[in-house]
Amino acid sequence: MNLDEILKDAEREFAAAASLPILDQVKARYLGKSGAIPSQMKTLGALPAEERKAAGARINQAKDQVETLLRGRRDAIQAAELERQLAAESLDVTLPGRGEAVAGLHPVTRTMQRIEALFASIGFEVADGPEIETDFYNFTALNIPENHPARAMHDTFYLEGGNLLRTHTSPVQVHYMQNFMKLAGSPQAFLSPSGGERHEAAISGGESLPPIRIIAPGRVYRCDSDVTHTPMFHQVEGLWVDESVSFADLKGILTDFMARFFERDNLPVRFRPSFFPFTEPSAEMDIGCVICEGAGCRVCSHTGWLEVLGCGMVHPNVFGHVGIDAERYQGFAFGLGVERLAMLRYGVDDLRLFFENDMRFLKQFA
Ligand code: PHE
Repeated sequence: MNLDEILKDAEREFAAAASLPILDQVKARYLGKSGAIPSQMKTLGALPAEERKAAGARINQAKDQVETLLRGRRDAIQAAELERQLAAESLDVTLPGRGEAVAGLHPVTRTMQRIEALFASIGFEVADGPEIETDFYNFTALNIPENHPARAMHDTFYLEGGNLLRTHTSPVQVHYMQNFMKLAGSPQAFLSPSGGERHEAAISGGESLPPIRIIAPGRVYRCDSDVTHTPMFHQVEGLWVDESVSFADLKGILTDFMARFFERDNLPVRFRPSFFPFTEPSAEMDIGCVICEGAGCRVCSHTGWLEVLGCGMVHPNVFGHVGIDAERYQGFAFGLGVERLAMLRYGVDDLRLFFENDMRFLKQFA
């Protein structure tokens, strides 16, 4: 085989080698111990002495050329591999990062926070109470004696042992006023949670007590489940007790709250006489329908009005149960349904959406 042919073959075979390991195998065929070039060297011995030098020089030249071809091909393969790697692992640093999804608050939570913020802005504190209650706090202390028909209206979940899941946030009124009187240093002994006895005029004369101004948001439970009722829902209780709090204050505070909550300057309101055992007088507050602006629609049952909360002046018997002098102090209380306000504010037409945890619904509030 002459050197030109060897070079031509080497060039062709190197070019065909697609990777470095293959190229190494091909290299062995030309430069390896028994490869084409060393084999040529071995033929030198058979040549006449005067030709050996020139022939050896030609073989060495050919060897150099094979090595140059090899280096060129190796560089080309490495460059192509780098190119491929860069393309496969390319990183676009201008793309938005992954995993940056922001969590959102549940619409009911948002609504409670909004209610809290509005009342906080006029000096109301947020109070808390247990969800598992005794009969005393949920009913008796709120002037709902045993066997009173009002108990039947509450669809109570009773627990083994006689406790219950609170049916409204009103028991927080009782807890708060009791603790308040304890801190105020009431000379009276307090009723045990199970006691039914009532104290008259715990504190009379002397210095005035500071005002009580609280709202109490939280979960409440009723054994009731249909399209417009869920066994668990949320209420916000409100209570303001002072020496001269009147029904006019109740109307002013609640009218202003609703106007601010719904962002309507001239939101129509009305107070209809009602009954709650723990308030006297009692009222239901209505607002002009925020969906149809009073024209009449499905949401307001074509009345133009929406019932939004129950309220009234704290009944003297409730003050009696916590040791506050009902002759000296008075106050108002109210209780509103959070889901109802959330539905009206966000235009949600099905209560169940709040509890199904469908991301398509919840994402709209994120
Ligand atoms: N607790 C009452 C209810 O759940 C609402 C209410 C609270 C009414 C405070 C008057 C005063 O229906």
